[in-house]
Amino acid sequence: MTTATRGAVGTAHTRVEGRDKVTGAARYAGEIPFADLAHGWLVLSTVARGRVRSVDTEAVLAMPGVLTVLHHHNAPRVTTDYVGLLGVPPDPTVALFQDDRVAHMGWPVALVVAETSEQAREAAEALVVHYDREPHDVAFSAERDAEAYPADGHMPAVVEKGDLEAGLAASAVVVDERYTTPEEHHNPMEPHAATARWEGGRLEVVDSNQGTNWVAGELAGLFSLDPASVRVRSEHVGGGFGSKGVRAHQVAAVMAATVLQRPVRVVMTRRQMFSLAGYRSPTAQRVRLGADPDGRLRVLEHRSLNLTSAVYEFVEPSAAAGRSMYAADAHHTASRVVRLDVPSPTWMRAPGEAPGSFALESALDELAERLGIDPIELRVRNEPSVGPVSGLPFGSRNLIACFREGARRFGWAERDPRPGVRRDGRWLLGTGTAAGSFPTTAMPSTAAVTAEADGTFTVRINAADIGTGARTALTLVAADALEVSTDRVRVHIGDSDLGPAIIAGGSMGTRSWSWAVTAAADELRRSLVPGADIPPEGITARSNTAEAVGALAQKERHAFGAQFAEVAVDPATGEVRVRRMLGVFAAGRIVNPLTARNQLVGGMIWGLSMALHEEAVRDRSTGGLYGADLAGYHVAAHADVPPIEADWVDDPDPDDPVGIKGIGEVGIVGAAAAVANAVWHATGVRHRSLPIRPDRVL
Ligand code: MOS
Repeated sequence: MTTATRGAVGTAHTRVEGRDKVTGAARYAGEIPFADLAHGWLVLSTVARGRVRSVDTEAVLAMPGVLTVLHHHNAPRVTTDYVGLLGVPPDPTVALFQDDRVAHMGWPVALVVAETSEQAREAAEALVVHYDREPHDVAFSAERDAEAYPADGHMPAVVEKGDLEAGLAASAVVVDERYTTPEEHHNPMEPHAATARWEGGRLEVVDSNQGTNWVAGELAGLFSLDPASVRVRSEHVGGGFGSKGVRAHQVAAVMAATVLQRPVRVVMTRRQMFSLAGYRSPTAQRVRLGADPDGRLRVLEHRSLNLTSAVYEFVEPSAAAGRSMYAADAHHTASRVVRLDVPSPTWMRAPGEAPGSFALESALDELAERLGIDPIELRVRNEPSVGPVSGLPFGSRNLIACFREGARRFGWAERDPRPGVRRDGRWLLGTGTAAGSFPTTAMPSTAAVTAEADGTFTVRINAADIGTGARTALTLVAADALEVSTDRVRVHIGDSDLGPAIIAGGSMGTRSWSWAVTAAADELRRSLVPGADIPPEGITARSNTAEAVGALAQKERHAFGAQFAEVAVDPATGEVRVRRMLGVFAAGRIVNPLTARNQLVGGMIWGLSMALHEEAVRDRSTGGLYGADLAGYHVAAHADVPPIEADWVDDPDPDDPVGIKGIGEVGIVGAAAAVANAVWHATGVRHRSLPIRPDRVL
């Protein structure tokens, strides 16, 4: 089902930089050549907590090609006394080498810089660092709730409406279950990499990130620089998923470039990324649902315990999703955190909603089972007309339309609700469903559109294409706004000198940038005189959407989705195979069906991977991870992934100039619950801890 559109928006378009990417012409941050380039290699702590007593630099400085070793005695000073673009203070982890403290295993303690990457690596591996160890504590479990505390993060920690206990007492059926999800990592294929240099009095950084003016602002803050004197570029990005903000590599590169006064590149290794790139906190969640016999919810309670590091508070808001999903007389949701001696967690695709929907949507399925009501019908009966807690109208919702279309295509009507009764040879078969949502917001951005003398148009907007196809989406949006064909439009992104724009994150990039591009294009069309000559420098119009975005009416704004999965379970081996998945989404007007489907299917695959495979295991004795690489951290491989379909219902956002909502994260939300619910349907056994490993199935 495709949104009815005119022009380019809504038509499939291959990536405008696709040929460059597949032929290797597209250069990524770690491979852009610089004259006189030096290479830095980070040295990470081998203890989980303590102090650096000494760094034996002498022997290493005598090694071939070594230029310097930076550590807490000699590194340039930085400050964390500022608030960045996203309105939060920096994680002190990026204030490298400022004191002798070691806050977790894999904490950066030194940077070795040499003429070549190989020399830097050899010297870094030879560097001897002495530590004074202190006892560490990395043990996350539900029992830690006693010492946890409510913490807001980017969502209020606690939201309460109505009388919980009275509602539970009056409920005919109560589901009260606990769910856990493990620590999960979002290593993009392209590692974090940055080259820094001072050029004409300006700091220039070539990087791989989700927002160049975000990173430029953080670097200006850390190094107390005039923001106008910092330029960050990030042309092609091989995946971000929330991990590519300001990180140790950019800061280390800037420090070394400043000390040596020559360009310095720092690339994280895959193993280093498991300490330095952020990750998703493990969660221990409790859901209590109380309902009448007809399925109407009296109570929705969702509490989530998460961890954060000893140095920074990041909250995975897993309990927040329920606030907008279902009507209930009483709504209690709370996120709590416990501080441990671990790396700081961070945003990872659908932060909060991904693990939160596993618990909430599993609990809904358990409630449906106990009530003898179809799981889709249960959701229909609890569909809210306004925000269940906020009372605000929805921008658009259409969750039930997703379920109806999904059920039709998946063949849900033929489903026998009884668990454990279908076989295909040695396999037990089951199907499951779950809902998902993710907030969609527009954020202020600026854009410039130039009518060139040759009849083409140049769009300049500081967007980031982290592999999503943003550059292509903006080409389509600009073409429609200008009423020209896409081949007359070129889009420049990924350079902080292009001016402020929101990051690629929070499912808000494409919408926010498209708004700014449309506004600039509209302005340009108003200023162009038909038939008049364009001067050689072109005619440029600019936009800033701060006012328009600020004037948006207060509404609950979310993308929604209905997820379906069919699984086969081998009761002899415990193996779970997903046989097919279908996701139907209400996610606003779809700009480019080709890349949108990629994005949604990618999220669903990640949900499958979350359900069955992904789990980072921390060794309590060392405080480090077992198998901190893509061999040890198991992700779904091609052979694990069945045919997956993603599609959408017509759902243009009535308040957006292009009708866009945002599809960045909603694809993963609910996918793991759909798989887990299908495993229950196949076997009759509930799995409330992810991943559903063979040993747990047996
Ligand atoms: Mo996304 S986790 O906001 O990059």
